[in-house]
Amino acid sequence: MTKAKSAAKAAAKPAAKRAPAKKAASDGVEIRPLAASDEKALLSFARSLPPHDLLFLPRDISEPKVLKAWIRESEGGGMMSLVAAEGDTIVGCGAIAHDPLSWSPHVGELRVLLGPAARGKGVGRRLTQRLFALALEAGLQRIVAQMTVDQTAAISVFEGLGFRAEAMLRGHVKDRAGKRHDIVILGHEVADVLARLEAFGVVEATSR
Ligand SMILES: CC(C)(COP(=O)(O)OP(=O)(O)OC[C@H]1O[C@@H](n2cnc3c(N)ncnc32)[C@H](O)[C@@H]1OP(=O)(O)O)[C@@H](O)C(=O)NCCC(=O)NCCS
Repeated sequence: MTKAKSAAKAAAKPAAKRAPAKKAASDGVEIRPLAASDEKALLSFARSLPPHDLLFLPRDISEPKVLKAWIRESEGGGMMSLVAAEGDTIVGCGAIAHDPLSWSPHVGELRVLLGPAARGKGVGRRLTQRLFALALEAGLQRIVAQMTVDQTAAISVFEGLGFRAEAMLRGHVKDRAGKRHDIVILGHEVADVLARLEAFGVVEATSR
């Protein structure tokens, strides 16, 4: 196991504390990198979602143009993207957005999204952990995530990984009906956690 993967595992809730039924329910779901051939399935997935669940994203991925640009960026290595698939059906997706040419080359934004039918089975947590590990492997020192304040499941997953609420942006996004919603920004100083895990020998122990 790589250092990053074991750190993500160690930073997350211990597997023993999770219900076995939840693990079994998520077993048929494969988490893998996003491919160009996923475009059609990903569009149907995005269009099946409640519009409110898309509000944390900077752009509407149920628009084919936006989706194409995301796939292009992922293929070019500009974005690390994963999908959760059950056979040919996409049930979730996620990405780490990061701009090495900006003044925040050490920061990545983690985004994760699951279809309502696939929720509550542990898939969201698995997907988030995999993305977290990718961010660590890429050497990012800080990870942020943003969501509407009512996304309690998302906040719980992120807090379980060590994220803490850092800011609130009032009325920051507008839904299709023109209603404004607050956004919470969670942050994680990865470097601090890695150092602490190493100091206690946790990274070494979980790599074995
Ligand atoms: C965040 C999200 C991916 C979680 O997916 P999920 O598969 O349902 O999550 P899991 O089944 O792995 O559950 C993870 C934790 O969330 C919590 N949780 C799940 N559903 C919850 C709910 N409705 N209310 C409160 N907490 C909930 C549980 O504490 C669970 O932890 P547990 O293992 O102790 O039971 C999913 O809710 C989602 O796509 N939300 C909308 C998009 C969004 O806001 N994304 C975040 C922006 S980055």
